[in-house]
Amino acid sequence: PLISMREMLDHAAEAGYGIPAFNVNNLEQVQAVMAAADEVGAPVILQASAGARKYAGESFIKHLILAATEAYPHIPLVMHQDHGTSPAICQGALELGFGSVMMDGSLLADGKTPSDFDYNVRVTQEVVAMAHKIGATVEGELGCLGSLETGEAGEEDGVGAVGKLDHSQMLTDPEEAAQFVQATQLDALAIAIGTSHGAYKFTRPPTGDVLSIQRVKEIHARLPNTHLVMHGSSSVPQDLLAIINQFGGKMKQTYGVPVKEIQEAIKHGVRKVNIDTDIRMAMTGAVRKFQFENPEKFDMREWMKPAREAAKAICKQRYLEFGCEGQG
Ligand code: G3H
Ligand code: 13P
Ligand code: ZN
Repeated sequence: PLISMREMLDHAAEAGYGIPAFNVNNLEQVQAVMAAADEVGAPVILQASAGARKYAGESFIKHLILAATEAYPHIPLVMHQDHGTSPAICQGALELGFGSVMMDGSLLADGKTPSDFDYNVRVTQEVVAMAHKIGATVEGELGCLGSLETGEAGEEDGVGAVGKLDHSQMLTDPEEAAQFVQATQLDALAIAIGTSHGAYKFTRPPTGDVLSIQRVKEIHARLPNTHLVMHGSSSVPQDLLAIINQFGGKMKQTYGVPVKEIQEAIKHGVRKVNIDTDIRMAMTGAVRKFQFENPEKFDMREWMKPAREAAKAICKQRYLEFGCEGQG
């Protein structure tokens, strides 16, 4: 059934696990996440970005997620809007039936320009007021995702700040975080610790200077009762990169967020871990491989099936790694 994000994250905090929040855009991705969760008994967060709502259409994205609750009535599921850029967008999602919304006030409504603290507090408060009235959950964000390696905001997939950022903007300040949570009364806080969206996060396996799990610990120490959220948390598996490139792809060498770093963060208050890129890579690799090996085939079901299987495999792996087994 659909349940509240707050309830799901509270349980995760009590039991000490983290929940991958998977971005979905179409039928096969929804099916992949559900099948994975079903196999391991995990709770599910399905999240739709503005891009997903545009790609699938609002009715389709809504009913794909509702179909998941019908097909898997025993699995607790949260329907979450990812990266709302304004209170109006969050309101639209709430009206559509989303039980949880992210108001990303770390950026102005253009979704690109870093905002100031007061603006962020104001828009987040506004969304908390409308969401809490109807029992919905709110995720806010303080700090901007960006590369501590290059100083670039790194929005190569079109999501997030653009251009150069200060080092301090890319690392959430624990004291400011405490003020932000106090002022907004949000349910979950996304923090900036050096991750960024998309495949090109790090040019080498990340070390503590470019991926600060230390900062997670400091924020958690200051805010032990706040559910923390990590964005840009795909691990960019090297085997998936290799499959894509082996079958005609041209992705550059790149590194993501190592699973063991995420596991460490889960020990320190991170309850929701956003993953999109890993699913994209899994599906792309599987489609490339299938089509390369079966150039005579043209029934899309035949190549969507291995793509769905590959997505399911990565989802299942993350559920197990983040401690979700049997928690659903
Ligand atoms: O927030 C980032 C997610 O990867 C969503 O990406 O806007 O291309 O759907 P998208
Ligand atoms: P990735 O690009 O690392 O998968 O991050 C997704 C995300 O943070 C969605 O909000
Ligand atoms: Zn994100």
